[in-house]
Amino acid sequence: MTMRCDILTLFPEMIRSVIGTSILARAQEQGRLDVRVVDLRDYTVDRHRTADDAPYGGGVGMVLKVEPIARAVDALNADGEPRRWISTSPRGRRFSHETAGEWSRDPRRLVLLCGHYEGIDDRIGAVAPWEEVSIGDYVLTGGELAALVMLDATARLVPGVLGDPSSAVEESFVDSLLEYPQYTRPAEFRGLRVPDVLLSGHHAAIRAWRREQALCETRRRRPDLLERAAVSEDERRRLEALDERVSS
Ligand code: 6GU
Repeated sequence: MTMRCDILTLFPEMIRSVIGTSILARAQEQGRLDVRVVDLRDYTVDRHRTADDAPYGGGVGMVLKVEPIARAVDALNADGEPRRWISTSPRGRRFSHETAGEWSRDPRRLVLLCGHYEGIDDRIGAVAPWEEVSIGDYVLTGGELAALVMLDATARLVPGVLGDPSSAVEESFVDSLLEYPQYTRPAEFRGLRVPDVLLSGHHAAIRAWRREQALCETRRRRPDLLERAAVSEDERRRLEALDERVSS
């Protein structure tokens, strides 16, 4: 499977510097990730390559112009591939692990339009069926970092992008639990020993220890996640017993 993506931006170098590095670069070399970076300025027609302009009605900042976006969209559509149109915006629906999973399984090419907080001319709605998506309740200077977050979180769920096919499955949020603590060599550092069970080679015991750690860490750091987590009756009883010990 390959994740296909077009990123529309005023800052193509910002996107290229990130996707040219590390796991995303390897995924592209392996053909599991195909990202095209589209410079919106290439779709301007004036001498100054103007892609944004002052807002009608006044106010601070600049607004992305509709025509360069419309021309870029028309150019993308020329290949006839089905696409899913995403516009990054702090007013959008919140991106989550579930969104990443859904996008990673979508056979369409993903388009990520990098907006700017002051906004994009509202008439882009007539150009493509955009879904507005936000990565959280804070404001970025532009949508590039948000688009990269969404791309990264989605790409790592595409089979084969991470070396080991099980790594993405064990991860936090898949079963709504946080991850158990991890250790690597040395077995002792400044008097701190790695838990004996992890050195025991006893796989069932290791699995049980990790499950218990994940449950306890989730209860301590993110009790809100436990409500939707797949936790057995027995595990819930044991967590409640812990709660009683803490409050008494
Ligand atoms: Cl998607 N864009 C911008 N500009 N700011 C954001 C955001 C997106 N998500 C959170 N803040």
